[in-house]
Amino acid sequence: MMIHRHRDRLAELPRDPRADAYPMPPVPYGWYAVLRGRELRPGQVVSLHYFGRALIAFRGADGRAAVRDAHCPHYGAHLGAGGKIVDGTVECPFHGWRFDADGACTLAPFAARTPKVSLGGFPVREHSGLIFVHVGPDASAWEVPEIPEATSRAFARPIDDVCRARIHIQEMRENIVDESHFHFIHGQSEPPVQDLRPDGPFAEVRGRFHRRVLAWDINNTFDVFMYGPGVMVVRVEGPVLSLTAVALTTPVDERTSEMRMLYYIRKPARLPFLAPLFKLVFRAEALREVRDEVRIWDHKVHLARPVLLPHEKGIRALRRWYAQFYPDGAGALEDSAADNRDRESSAIN
Ligand code: FES
Ligand SMILES: [Fe+2]
Repeated sequence: MMIHRHRDRLAELPRDPRADAYPMPPVPYGWYAVLRGRELRPGQVVSLHYFGRALIAFRGADGRAAVRDAHCPHYGAHLGAGGKIVDGTVECPFHGWRFDADGACTLAPFAARTPKVSLGGFPVREHSGLIFVHVGPDASAWEVPEIPEATSRAFARPIDDVCRARIHIQEMRENIVDESHFHFIHGQSEPPVQDLRPDGPFAEVRGRFHRRVLAWDINNTFDVFMYGPGVMVVRVEGPVLSLTAVALTTPVDERTSEMRMLYYIRKPARLPFLAPLFKLVFRAEALREVRDEVRIWDHKVHLARPVLLPHEKGIRALRRWYAQFYPDGAGALEDSAADNRDRESSAIN
């Protein structure tokens, strides 16, 4: 009970401005999943907010998903506030201007000629049940590969868990190579042994861990596949449970990040009806752990130079790899302002 009282106190205290300060830009370049495909039906306008921008998503005449700026260039109305889809274009609720999936204005009622204006937007890809957008100068540089579990009948429909935290998305990714936290947050007997292997915009981490779930002693291996800053697939194989977790991390604005976890549990081969039970147990265990992490993320500061123990070198390796997603490697490891700040804080301690 003490713990709860402490939690409430923390939320009421003034916020330390260092908890919102980062040496790196808020939006690394890469592909981000902003919706599941099933969340965008033809004829629907979905309002979104990512990358500090008001956005809308809709499907064009050919069913292709579009993600574009929400505000109409004519007079500024929000297209998600009453806009509708007409012949695969989005029609503004205020004066009826229409825009196609590429953003081009196709109709402006009462205009002698259709103005050459367009809605800003993003390159879009749709596969693996997800709608991805690209942020950055070169969308063709690399692609997120297909995630076969998303469409495989061998896996149950995913547990879908979305949370937001007041943290830079890079910190959410650092979590997977933060070996020590697996003991304290995820109930593992000791930190897993990991090895980060970078491969351009992709990276892999292999590891194994041991934990008890209910009465089971579980020894699992896990293989982590990172596809840029926004998409990570974790495949866990064990004697009891095999599952694939798809971790989608997306910047909401300068201070807030979203983490959407899709957990695909493999249906047990001989006892497929056990899948719902596995889902229940997994939901109860794993989602609580994610919430514990969110509480930590909401309040932690970013240290450019954390005091890392030898087995925690993965955090440094992750940061080196991740720096490629910032313009000119900005916000990489060494940032003098952040370093000074860290030094001040260690002097205080
Ligand atoms: S504000 Fe959209 S049509 Fe006028
Ligand atoms: Fe974690």
